[in-house]
Amino acid sequence: MSANFRLYSQYYDLLYRDKSYEAEVDYLDALIKQYDSESKKIIELGSGTGKHANLLSARGYQILGLERSPEMVDIANRSKAINVDFKVADITNFEIGQFFDIALSLFHVISYLINSQSLIDTFRNVHRHLNSGGLFIFDVWHSLAVNFQVPEKRTKIFQDQNIEVTRNANPVIRQELNVVEVNYDITVKDLRDGSTHFFEEQHPMRHFSRPEIELLACATGFELIHSEEFISKNTPTSETWGVCYILKKL
Ligand SMILES: C[S@@+](CC[C@H](N)C(=O)[O-])C[C@H]1O[C@@H](n2cnc3c(N)ncnc32)[C@H](O)[C@@H]1O
Repeated sequence: MSANFRLYSQYYDLLYRDKSYEAEVDYLDALIKQYDSESKKIIELGSGTGKHANLLSARGYQILGLERSPEMVDIANRSKAINVDFKVADITNFEIGQFFDIALSLFHVISYLINSQSLIDTFRNVHRHLNSGGLFIFDVWHSLAVNFQVPEKRTKIFQDQNIEVTRNANPVIRQELNVVEVNYDITVKDLRDGSTHFFEEQHPMRHFSRPEIELLACATGFELIHSEEFISKNTPTSETWGVCYILKKL
């Protein structure tokens, strides 16, 4: 499989232009204060183009973002805020030599870890880098919703003053693995000269039930203290695509 978030990185902020990182950071800040009001030092796994990190820094947090895609890190570095740093690293295998109060992993990064050993390795890495009682907060795809709603082929078109990006998502469901392979084909049209280019990326996504996360937590030295729908705080249902989990290091 070719690495994802390479060419895709160039269009990422346009594709997610309407995603409210501000509202997400309001939610996360409140969540952190609810469970641990003193926490200030954060490690973020899969920090992407750095949107959450920069907004969190404006609220007094110090953040180190780890991100596998060097292209995403390059973009993040262009608008890096004070007290924020980004490193190219694979979250399944990293050693920073520092301790953090909170680990965050946002917008389904953990769902990108489709094999069980990668999940266990990542949870152990997080555990090793957290202070005692530290929190691990992440959102993942929710099995109940994926099985109930069944992902379908979708097309989205995004545009700025220079380009038009057409993204087709063709999901292949691997039911026995709790995985949906989201195959993107992307056509980028340059609106200035009419030229187009085309590329493909595969984004395999694993979905989870609460007992599965509880088992992972137990096996890697965490206690699952809460789960809720991301942002709304509602109890997850078959309509809930993204569930936020809060784990505490034992
Ligand atoms: C959907 S994006 C989310 C980015 C960012 N957290 C956000 O909210 O915009 C998923 C990110 O996870 C990163 N990622 C996936 N697997 C990773 C791994 N094993 N190690 C580090 N980063 C990873 C991808 O490169 C990508 O930037």
